[in-house]
Amino acid sequence: MKTIAIYPGTFDPITNGHIDLIRRSASIFPKVIVLVAGDTKKAPLFNLDERVSMVREAVKRIPGTVRVEPFHGLLIDAVKKHSAKIIIRGLRAVSDFEYESQMALMNRRLEPGVETFFMISAEDYACLSSSFVKEIAGLGGNVGTLVPPGVKKRLSRLYSGRK
Ligand code: COA
Repeated sequence: MKTIAIYPGTFDPITNGHIDLIRRSASIFPKVIVLVAGDTKKAPLFNLDERVSMVREAVKRIPGTVRVEPFHGLLIDAVKKHSAKIIIRGLRAVSDFEYESQMALMNRRLEPGVETFFMISAEDYACLSSSFVKEIAGLGGNVGTLVPPGVKKRLSRLYSGRK
C-alpha cells in the first residue's frame, strides 16, 4: 500500500511557502493529500471552495501524486478516513514549535497510530504567512514573489473591487 502523507492547513490563501513544502513532500512520499480546513477558528477571507480551487491550481505542476480535498471536523478523523498515517507540518521559526508540538501531541493522543512529521520551511519563506500576504495585498503592495499567479490575481480582483 502507498504511504499517504497528509498536509493540512487553512490556506487562506496558499502561499509559495506552502507550495515549497508540498513539492518537497511529494518528492518523498508516493502520495500527498493536501487537506483544506472547512471549520476554522480564523475568519477566512476566501470561502472553502475558493481556497480548495486555489490550492488545486497551485499544485497542478508539482511532479508526483498530489490530491487536494476539503475537510470538516477533526483533522485526525479526516486522516483516518484517507487511511493515512502521516501528517506533515512546516516549521518556519522556533515560535511555530510550541503550537505545532501541542497539536502533534494532541493528535497523537486522539490517534496513537498517526505520526506528525515536521519539515523546516525554505529560508526564503521563513517569515511568510497568509496574514502577511493579505495585509500587503490589501494595502496595494506587490505579492508576486510570495504567492502563485492565480492567487495574486484573485487578491487583486478582491481588493480592487473593495476600493
Ligand atoms: N510557508 C508560509 N506560511 C506558512 C507555512 C509555510 N511553510 N506554514 C505555515 N504557514 C502560515 C500559514 O500561512 C498560516 O498563516 P496565518 O496564520 O497568517 O493564516 C499559519 O502559518 C499557519 O497556518 P496553516 O499551516 O494553514 O495551519 P493552520 O494553523 O491554519 O491550520 C489546522 C491548522 C487546520 C491543521 C488545524 O487547525 C486543524 O487541524 N483543524 C481541524 C480541527 C482539529 O482537528 N483540531 C484539533 C487539533 S489538535
